[in-house]
Amino acid sequence: MEKILDGKKLAEKLNSELKQEINNIFEKTGVKPKLAAILANEDPGSEIYVNMKRKKCAEVGIESILIKLEKDISENTLLEEINKLNNDNTVHGILLQLPLPTKLKESTNKFIEKISPLKDVDGFNPINKGLLFDYNEELAPCTPKGIIALLEYYSIELKGKDVVIINRSNLVGKPLIFMLLKRNATITVCHTSTKNIDKHLKRADILIVAVGKPKFITKEKIKEGAIIIDVGQSRVEGKLFGDVDFDQVFEKCGAITPTPGGVGPLTVAFLLQNTFIAYKKQLKIN
Ligand code: GUN
Repeated sequence: MEKILDGKKLAEKLNSELKQEINNIFEKTGVKPKLAAILANEDPGSEIYVNMKRKKCAEVGIESILIKLEKDISENTLLEEINKLNNDNTVHGILLQLPLPTKLKESTNKFIEKISPLKDVDGFNPINKGLLFDYNEELAPCTPKGIIALLEYYSIELKGKDVVIINRSNLVGKPLIFMLLKRNATITVCHTSTKNIDKHLKRADILIVAVGKPKFITKEKIKEGAIIIDVGQSRVEGKLFGDVDFDQVFEKCGAITPTPGGVGPLTVAFLLQNTFIAYKKQLKIN
């Protein structure tokens, strides 16, 4: 088995297949998929991510528009913007980049709930969350979809495996619970109140970590032969780091994702996939 789980390679494969599929449908319908990204904060990181997502859209033939709002925007204006996009039938996917500005942060769910479930390419709307509860992963969150795709691409068995997730967010940890349960894994979710986290780490056949702390996972913490999925992304002096001390852990683990080039490119690849799914739903194409 290959020891480096190459997310970049899988993302490139998925993107190039998607480009072909989009082109096939475009030739028949004359309609291109379109994603609308809403950027309401002034965080330079968010702007970089949104620009990168739009660049990837263009590469596979998805049109995109950027709705850049002032950071002191009112709740009503943002709700109106979402409503306009819901009613615009040339827009198939809506991405509300998070986090929202401080003033609106507490109402994040209110905005997400307003996005039409058919256009909810992040899979954050309560309807899509509920479908995932029933193991329907059609419009499920992009990062967890990417992690599952990577494990499946490398034929990593999930049935009966002890999977430990260190993250309980709506973006990563919670959706993974349902996706892994569907595939018959045994799941432990660790978080800030978990006692003796090392005890759980030591048992993990598969460890999925997203805490945003470089070198959080060291060699002593993992089980020999464990599969390590590093979702963390921290920028230190312009360089990107995951949560795992890659060089230390490499020898001892069974396989590991690199940073960069691991889960990151797959998150974007699945945003494109979800936009394509949303587009087909709206065009009533199977
Ligand atoms: N902010 C950080 N990651 C994400 C994501 O996957 N989707 C959205 N909408 N915002 C984010």
